[in-house]
Amino acid sequence: MNVMRTRRFLQIAGTLAAGIVLAACSKQEPPPPPAPVASAPASAPAPAPAKVYVVGTDAAYAPFESQNEKGEIVGFDVDVVTAAAKKAGIEVKFVNTPWEGIFNALGQGDRDMVASAVTITDERKQTMDFSDPYFDAQQLIAVKENSKVTKFADLKKLKIGVQTGTTGEEAVAKLVGKTNPNIKRFESTPLALKELESGGVDAVVADNGVVIHYVANNPGGKFKTVSDKDFVPEKYGIALKKGNTELQAKLNKGLADIKADGTYDQIYAKYFGAAPAKAAEPAASAASK
Ligand code: ARG
Repeated sequence: MNVMRTRRFLQIAGTLAAGIVLAACSKQEPPPPPAPVASAPASAPAPAPAKVYVVGTDAAYAPFESQNEKGEIVGFDVDVVTAAAKKAGIEVKFVNTPWEGIFNALGQGDRDMVASAVTITDERKQTMDFSDPYFDAQQLIAVKENSKVTKFADLKKLKIGVQTGTTGEEAVAKLVGKTNPNIKRFESTPLALKELESGGVDAVVADNGVVIHYVANNPGGKFKTVSDKDFVPEKYGIALKKGNTELQAKLNKGLADIKADGTYDQIYAKYFGAAPAKAAEPAASAASK
């Protein structure tokens, strides 16, 4: 009985209290502005903390992206995107992200962009947007030094290692058929190249920059590279969530700025030696500048 009465009393009291508060609010002038925050000057609102854009990258792709001894993500893509972002006035943070699932993470908003030696393809453009291209690439074949392979078509009867979901896999699937059991898929390109070293596959098809870097840094593997002009030229872009035109414009502006002021060439030289576009320009146009 007592308990019941107490509950009833509390209910009534609660209703009354709410009524009083409502009445108070409706009768009086608007409530006073909130007290100013102690440290902020009354005139200027405190600036919102700057957004840090999260960049997904599969950091097993030297020299474009890899992890150093300290676990930091370093490489050409990191330098280019960081420099472009700086020009655009935005802050970026790289997060190691497995290649498989990297575009899902982008679509779901877990990453604001993907800078991971991503080739701009028509198929990908259906589901994501890209910055302007920032690097030219092409597929390249890695084989053992004693291999008889001299061109892409020579791989038709061989076991070929590729990284799943890459343009290298696509090229190989086109050559031998998607379901051909001779295609050996790996979650990273270095794993495919390790398999070549141990003899599990006869060849690896992957981006030229990465293959050249790996072969140069693994002399013990006794590899050589084989190029083929039938591989279609590729261009890397920064992938963005479809419709993110605001970030796209910022990045394009930043990329244009670092190309214009020589920053891009410096970064390029750091990783690949000579400056890029200039070499391909006709001598006359270079001289006239
Ligand atoms: N350029 C190729 C592609 O877009 C391979 C990129 C792989 N990148 C990486 N960081 N694993 O399909």
